Amino acid sequence: MKKKCIVIGDLDLDLILTKLKGCPELGKEVISKGHILDIGGSGGIFSTVLSMSGIKTYIISKIGDDLLGNFLVSKLKSFKVDTRRIAVEKGRETGITINLSYPSDKYQISSLNLVRSLTIDELMFKNIEDAGHVHFSSYYMMNGLKGRYKELIENIKKNYPEITVSLDTNDDPEDSWNNNEINLISKYINALLINEREAIGITKESDIKNALDKLGKEIKTVIIKLGDRGYIAKDGKDYYREKALTTNFKDSTGAGDNFDAGFIYGLMNKFDVKKSLKIGNIYGAKSVEYIGGVGNTEKFIKLKILLKQLTQD
Ligand SMILES: Nc1ncnc2c1ncn2[C@@H]1O[C@H](COP(=O)(O)OP(=O)(O)O)[C@@H](O)[C@H]1O
Ligand SMILES: [Mg+2]
Repeated sequence: MKKKCIVIGDLDLDLILTKLKGCPELGKEVISKGHILDIGGSGGIFSTVLSMSGIKTYIISKIGDDLLGNFLVSKLKSFKVDTRRIAVEKGRETGITINLSYPSDKYQISSLNLVRSLTIDELMFKNIEDAGHVHFSSYYMMNGLKGRYKELIENIKKNYPEITVSLDTNDDPEDSWNNNEINLISKYINALLINEREAIGITKESDIKNALDKLGKEIKTVIIKLGDRGYIAKDGKDYYREKALTTNFKDSTGAGDNFDAGFIYGLMNKFDVKKSLKIGNIYGAKSVEYIGGVGNTEKFIKLKILLKQLTQD
């Protein structure tokens, strides 16, 4: 039987406003000529993209019993993500991020208190038949889990001795970049996927190659995503680097999470690291051609075709 993936981390709603006429100013209204509501949170996007690639995926996160929570569950289900292990807290508001998307960059305003409060006691990760991989998203976001990751991973490994582990820390909203716990759990992590800013923040190095080397001392595969410049990676003694693919750019929301899902898809299908990185790079590039991190079903059809071409090579 094909192995399943467990995702533990952030899930919220993304409201993305596009084609904006001007920037926000206190007391002024800004007109947007388009918007979409999409599954958000690094964990939410990762789960959906991996699930749509054909891997059975369980998202473990926290929402409220409100309209946004119901919307998220039905959207996730429509992309075949298993939502039964999401903790639902009555009377609380599901998290939301408002993205003001401009061609060069975006403003983000988030209200994520509920998902950030998810605790280890609320995680329903037991009794998943054939769990082969666990992905942790947004380490710095998950206040209720911080300080308990070693215990959590050891517990998961007790339940699933062969399980592989990946982590995408994402940004640190507090800008503390405390790395004590990451160093503590690094021996358990098979793949670390972060961007340039995060690599510099975590390692305190100023040079990206030094950051890669430092992280690569403990972690087998380290990938540093470089936005429209592609990525660099280290796997054991081997280094990899690829430029970003040319795209018809629309919106960068979730590009990194799409990259992560592509790479883990490769890993879970036992492709080598080089091929898995290529898949990640394709997924990241395809992501920016659609508004929102998940985008629409057309994106997944195109990804399937690209994947087929690559795996036939
Ligand atoms: N403008 C772009 N054109 C092509 N590919 C891109 C572009 N932006 C991002 N990507 C792809 O998505 C990956 C992740 O993007 P990045 O912005 O570095 O991650 P994050 O979203 O975590 O900050 C990159 O490594 C690259 O493969
Ligand atoms: Mg990211």
